[in-house]
Amino acid sequence: MTANTPVQGGPGHVAIIMDGNGRWAQKRGRPRLFGHQAGAKRVREIVRACPGLGVRYLTIFAFSTENWKRTQAEVSGLMTLFRRYIQREAQALLGEGVRVRFIGDRNRLDAKLVDLMDELETLTAGNDSVNLTIALNYGGRDEVARATKRLAQEVAAGRLDPETVDETTLARFLDTYVLPDPDLVIRTSGEARISNFLLWQSAYAEYEFTPVLWPDFTKDIFADIIGRYAGRERRFGAVLG
Ligand code: IPE
Ligand code: IPE
Ligand code: MG
Repeated sequence: MTANTPVQGGPGHVAIIMDGNGRWAQKRGRPRLFGHQAGAKRVREIVRACPGLGVRYLTIFAFSTENWKRTQAEVSGLMTLFRRYIQREAQALLGEGVRVRFIGDRNRLDAKLVDLMDELETLTAGNDSVNLTIALNYGGRDEVARATKRLAQEVAAGRLDPETVDETTLARFLDTYVLPDPDLVIRTSGEARISNFLLWQSAYAEYEFTPVLWPDFTKDIFADIIGRYAGRERRFGAVLG
């Protein structure tokens, strides 16, 4: 399978937990931020591979609500990297037909970064070849809690009848309300956990855990995983004939 072979029955929405940047740098005797820079370069390659593989939606985990626990130096280095990434990549993303969205809580992010995020969303709003969603200060539980708060406010204001609340009602209040659920969630670096990523949305996703560290994750590895996905049988709780 090469990166330009569209996959029959492939995943329309792939979500990736991009893990292993720190270990990649450590193996080279370099600071963790060097790994994050190498990881950012991979994002470009993977986004570009999506149209050829039939992936219309790509959601990537860039920074979790738990990642604030890291050293101040690493956190501020990452925030600088996010700002630079947006500034550097904006025109290329626009030209390649990529629509960019951000999910996560923007309240804790600095104003300059939030401005850049808003600008990139507006700039690329007319695109639709690939829908790239970047999860930044994102946590699945935090997202459900924020959604519940807004839902409760609607009830308190008399605009929503609690008797009518069901799964689709809650989903409308999530950051991902315009996105389909992920079909496939990939985690790099060998860890077999989801670390608070897309908890609600991944209820029936297929999972793929690869030992490859994120800065080593090539488009060919991506294509290979997507090719194997096509052979999986998804049952959604039913018995298939
Ligand atoms: C993933 O790589 C990137 C972020 C969480 C921002 P890590 O920084 O978690 O790398 P490891 O897991 O320490 O190798
Ligand atoms: C998950 O990776 C978050 C991102 C990839 C942004 P972590 O490295 O933060 O997850 P844990 O700490 O190993 O669970
Ligand atoms: Mg990690």
